[in-house]
Order: sequence, then structure tokens, then C-alpha cells
Amino acid sequence: MAFPFNTNYASIESLRARAEKRMPKFAFEYLDGGCNENINIIRNTKEIRDIQLKPRYLQNYSTTSLETNLFGQKYSAPFGISPIGLQGLMWPNAPEVLAKASLKHNIPFILSTVTTTSIERASELTEGRAWFQLYHPTENWLRNDLLKRAEAAQVPVLVILCDVPTFGYRPKEIKNGLAIPPQINFRNVMQVLGKPRWALETLKYGQPQFATMSKYMKQGMSIKQLGKWMDATFSGRLNEEKIKPIRDMWKGKLVLKGVVSEEDTQDAIRLGFDGIIVSNHGGRQLDAGESTIKPLSQITEKYKDKITIMMDSGIRSGPDIARVMSCGADFSFLGRSFMYGVGALGAKGGDHTIEILKMQLQQVLEQVCCEKVSDLPKYLVQ
Ligand SMILES: Cc1cc2nc3c(=O)[nH]c(=O)nc-3n(C[C@H](O)[C@H](O)[C@H](O)COP(=O)(O)O)c2cc1C
Repeated sequence: MAFPFNTNYASIESLRARAEKRMPKFAFEYLDGGCNENINIIRNTKEIRDIQLKPRYLQNYSTTSLETNLFGQKYSAPFGISPIGLQGLMWPNAPEVLAKASLKHNIPFILSTVTTTSIERASELTEGRAWFQLYHPTENWLRNDLLKRAEAAQVPVLVILCDVPTFGYRPKEIKNGLAIPPQINFRNVMQVLGKPRWALETLKYGQPQFATMSKYMKQGMSIKQLGKWMDATFSGRLNEEKIKPIRDMWKGKLVLKGVVSEEDTQDAIRLGFDGIIVSNHGGRQLDAGESTIKPLSQITEKYKDKITIMMDSGIRSGPDIARVMSCGADFSFLGRSFMYGVGALGAKGGDHTIEILKMQLQQVLEQVCCEKVSDLPKYLVQ
């Protein structure tokens, strides 16, 4: 069998291990960690893996296809790239690497408001296909300006978050000075010195900036001032009053990310969202929370035909994507897995990660004798 990737890294776990070796410790811990005792992050991955599929070996089927329709677009696979903030800190140029890979492989890429590439650049790299995740600004003029920029950049799907009403309590980030307000400490500087490749690439691409937000920021802010500015500029608490003007202004598709309850799903439908992403922010917010696969099954059972239902948090492989789709999701997203890929393999990391996931997922479809991803619920062991 021919593998379209470096076979030394044939799993997300192997990419993670290499990324850990190449990234400064504070950057890896920022990417890899959850909150508090990491219970929610462990629960996410464990409970997805409890889902089992039953093959139908004697069933006739012709070909298998990963193609999936979502919001009127035919994507080549049923998974996309979740928004991640500060990607350039974890690996220089990471959002650009992932944006390019998403175009090449025809999968969705969601740009975070607080990552290190701008809306305009992401749009250019993806020929107007990048989705945009909006952190809710405290000021209406800023919200309106960001929406106008997203529209001018032809963003097809706007994603707004409901799962960050407050900052997650993350002991490692607090220790590493990456909490709000952030601080650079001696330990971080020493960690950078031990990762020459990361340091060289950072010199090449320059210090990471909040590229979408930089035009609204004062030049030369200290890292402490930056933290305070972020805190004052965004308000994570979402409510009907904040959503309505966005729905009125935004003509494209609108998605609510961070839903984990039937109640919030009902509200999303009532408020005119086109889709939800069942997500717990990859276990970074509520350590006492459920895994996402649990509410996903309840939500798809009741609301499958009323709103597009997507899921992220805890997916680490093609079989995991198949498991999530077998529980009725219309689409899935992965966050850390793609960043492990870029941390491990730099510019090749995006393509490599997508290829692994596609091959693994294709193998599952062929193994259970299933023609298309949307048929996977028929193979779920109840
Ligand atoms: C380091 C890190 C930063 C993140 N930043 C954002 C962000 O800026 N906006 C956002 O909507 N979600 C953010 N998320 C959550 C991801 O979009 C996604 O929900 C999560 O990573 C999915 O879980 P997984 O990493 O287990 O696949 C972040 C996640 C991580 C790990």
C-alpha cells in the first residue's frame, strides 16, 4: 500500500510526540493542556472511544466516499480544522500552513479572532473559503467592523462562541505566564533556547501578532498591557441581545460553537443559527463537564433535521471521526491534532495530518462495508 505521508509519523499520537520534542515547553503545554486536573480532556477522548461499530461483511456495496455536503458546499472529507488562538506562538506560520492545506484538500478551516493570521490573509490563502470565529467584542463598532471585514473577505460561515463566559483555570498556563495578563518569565526564555528550530522559524516569520486585531491595538504594548487590552476588548458572555444584531447583520451561515445542552440547541434554532458545533473547547473550560459525545447523541436524536450538528473535542483519529459520525453528527472538527501535525512537521504538517485522517477514515468505511459517511449511524452498536 502506498502512503502519501512520511511513514515515521502514521498516527496523531506520533505527531504529538514529535511536536513535544520540537516546541518550547510553555508552547506545547498551552496546546496540549486542558483545565484544572485535565479530567474533561481525558473524558472527551475516552468516551468517544467507547463508541463501537458493527461491520456488515456480506452487504453489497460498490465504492466508499468521504465526500460530505455541508452548507451547500461539497467537502472532500467530513472533518475540518477548529479555530485555535495564538497558533504562531506554537509553531511559526501555523495558521497559514493549515489554511493552505485546507484549500488543497478541500476541507473547512476556521480562523480564530485571536490567531496570528488576519481574516484577509486567510481568505486569500483559501480563495475565500475560510470560516471565521468571532470572539464577541465589548464595543459594537468593533463587532460591526469585524463583521464587515469578514463579509468583504467572502467568509462563508461565521462561528460565534458561547463556551468562554470566563477564562478557563489552567494551572500550567498560569505557571508559564500565559494566563491573562500574560508574563514572559526566565523559564520560558530558557525553554526557547533549547528549541533551535522553533527559534529560527520564529526569527524568520517574526514575533507572532494578533493579525486580525492589530489594527485596533496601540503599537508597542507590553505583554502585560496586551493581556489587559484583551480582557477589556472581548466579552465572552453571550446572550440573546448580543446574538440578534449579529444574525441581522450577517447574511452568510451562522454557527454557534460550544453547545453542550439540548436547551442551548433549542435557543440556537430559535435565534436563527444555521448550525451548532457541540464542543467543550477541547476540555479547556469546565473540568467538571461532560464529554461532547454524550450530549451529541442526545442532540442529534432530537434535532437532527432542524439544524446542522457538528462536533469537536477529543477526536484524534479516523476511527474517532467515524464514531462521531455514527452518533449522527453532520460534520466533525479537530483542534489539537492539526497543531500537533504542524508542530511535528512544520510546513508539511497540515497535509500530513489530513492524509492520515482521510486514510484511517477510508479504512473504517471499507472495513464495515459502508458506502458513505452519512450511512455510518446504521453501523453503530446501540
Ligand atoms: C490551544 C488552544 C487554543 C484554542 N483557541 C480557540 C479560539 O481562539 N477560538 C475557539 O473558538 N476555540 C479555541 N480552541 C478550541 C478549539 O477550537 C476546539 O474546540 C478544540 O481544540 C477541540 O478539541 P480537540 O483539540 O480535542 O480537537 C482552542 C483550543 C486549544 C487547544
